[in-house]
Amino acid sequence: MHDQGTSGAPCKVRQRLWIGLQSRQDGRGGAQHRRRVGLRSDVTRDPAQRGQARSVGAGQQLVQRRMHASSHNLGKAEVGEPKQSRLSPIARTALEVNLLTEDNLPSYHREIGRTFGRDGAWGTWVHRWTAEEGRHAYCIRDYLLVTRGVDPVELERARMQVMQTGYDTQDAPLLRILAYVSFQELATRISHRNTGRHAGDPIAERLLTRVSTDENLHMVFYRNLVKAALDLCPGPALRAIADEVINFNMPGIVIPGFARKAALIAKAGIYDLRIHHDEVILPLLRHWAVFELADLDAEGEKARAELAEFLSQLDRQASRFEERRAQTQARLAGQQ
Ligand SMILES: [Fe+2]
Ligand SMILES: [Fe+2]
Repeated sequence: MHDQGTSGAPCKVRQRLWIGLQSRQDGRGGAQHRRRVGLRSDVTRDPAQRGQARSVGAGQQLVQRRMHASSHNLGKAEVGEPKQSRLSPIARTALEVNLLTEDNLPSYHREIGRTFGRDGAWGTWVHRWTAEEGRHAYCIRDYLLVTRGVDPVELERARMQVMQTGYDTQDAPLLRILAYVSFQELATRISHRNTGRHAGDPIAERLLTRVSTDENLHMVFYRNLVKAALDLCPGPALRAIADEVINFNMPGIVIPGFARKAALIAKAGIYDLRIHHDEVILPLLRHWAVFELADLDAEGEKARAELAEFLSQLDRQASRFEERRAQTQARLAGQQ
C-alpha cells in the first residue's frame, strides 16, 4: 500500500499532491494550503492512517455534538423539587457523595481488572464485585429521584464530571490495591450506614443498611486476601498496608467540592477522623495482628514503625477535631 503511493503508481496521492502544488504556483498557496497538501498526501498514501484521521475528526465532532445535546436535554429535564423530600440537607449531601462515589464504578472496574486479571477466581471476583457495586448506584439514584431528594440536573452534571475525571491508582501494585480496598470497603460501609441513620427516613435507612452489608462482605474478602499476603510475605505486605494508611483518600475525592462536603459530613458525625481511626483503621490492623507479627524483616519493621507514628498523629488530630466540634456545638446551643 505504501509502495504504491511512492513508486509512481497512478494513484490519487500523486493527483492530490499535484493539485496542491499547482495551487501554490497559482499564488493561492500559503502555509495553510501547504499543510493541506501534506495532510492529503499522507492520508491518501496509507488507508489505515486515513481512516484513523477521519475517525479522530469525526469522533471529536460527535463528542462535541453529544455534549451539546446532553446539556440541551438536561435543560429540558423534568426537575423534581428537593423541598418535597424528607431528607435533611446533610443527609442529602452525604447521599449525593455516596452516590457519585459509586457512580465511578467503570474506573474501579478497570483498575481491579488490570491488577487482578480476568482469569480464574480473580476474574470471577472482578465481575461479581462489579455487578454488586453496580446495584449500589442504581438503587441510591432511584431512591433520590423517586423521593425528589435531589435536583436531577445538578446530579447528572456532577456525575458526568466525576466520570470524565475518572479514578486512577497510577498502576499501583497488587498488595497496595488489596490494602487500599480493604480500608476503602470498610470506610464505605460505615459511611453508608451512618448516612442511613442521619437520613430521617426509614426507607433510606433500610436501603443504606443493605448497601453497607454488601460493602462489609467486600471488605471481608479483601481483608482475607491481605491476611494471606501477610502470611506469605509479611515485609512487603506490611509496607503496602502502611503506605495505604498513611496516604489514604476516599475514592470520592474526585467529586466536585469534595473537601467542603467531606467537612460537612464530618461535622455531622457521619464520617470523621475519629470514625476513620477507631472504626476503619484500627479494627483491620488488629485483625491482621500487625503489631504482634514476629520475625519481620527490616522493610516490615520500618513500615510498622512508620504506621505506629502515623496512628498516634491521627489519634491526636481526631481528638482535636472532636474538641473543636463540641465547642462549636456548645456555642451554637448557647445562642438558641
Ligand atoms: Fe458500593
Ligand atoms: Fe464495595
